[in-house]
Amino acid sequence: MQEHLTVVKHPLVQHKLTLMREKDTSTAVFRQLLREISQLLAYEVTRELPMTTREIETPMQEMDAPVLAGRKLALISILRAGNGLLDGMLELIPSARVGFVGLYRDEATLKPVQYYFKVPDQMDKRLVIAVDPMLATGNSSAAAIDLLKQAGATDIRFLCLLAAPEGVARMKEAHPDVPIVTASLDDSLDEKGYILPGLGDAGDRMFGTK
Ligand code: URA
Repeated sequence: MQEHLTVVKHPLVQHKLTLMREKDTSTAVFRQLLREISQLLAYEVTRELPMTTREIETPMQEMDAPVLAGRKLALISILRAGNGLLDGMLELIPSARVGFVGLYRDEATLKPVQYYFKVPDQMDKRLVIAVDPMLATGNSSAAAIDLLKQAGATDIRFLCLLAAPEGVARMKEAHPDVPIVTASLDDSLDEKGYILPGLGDAGDRMFGTK
């Protein structure tokens, strides 16, 4: 199994992330960078997919060549910002099934409440990769993973762009069996739950809303 937290330090990831963090980066460029970085992160999160071999013929000779062992994959977008990571990942893994989890925070109880949940069948047989760009307090991420486990998932990874130490700690406490892959472990959270230094509101930046 992977480490609980993997920070992808590859120079291309780090360079693109810096461009995304800059406040004057346009929505179009932010979106494009997110698409590119999501593919690089997908590469890391799928590193341990099981392999088998298939007999093929090259123009030169026969060989037993490595192929994916056909493990079923489910990519789960945590709405709405998860969709920004999803698009690039699907280009790399076009046969993956896709699900969506929508949660909002109840202002009275401050607890995450589900408003949408649709995931592929046979979740117990799939490698499930939940995606959300920002792991901030970790409350909604932990709640989303709870729902995926209730749907039968047992082999889950969590992929994000930025993680706050508070979010990583919350996930480790709630779901120590779920490895996290991220491009950066940032410093802290502000009083509103935004990641510092962060990149602002990921959804607003990718969709051009305020
Ligand atoms: N969600 C965001 O979009 N940004 C943060 O900094 C924290 C949570």
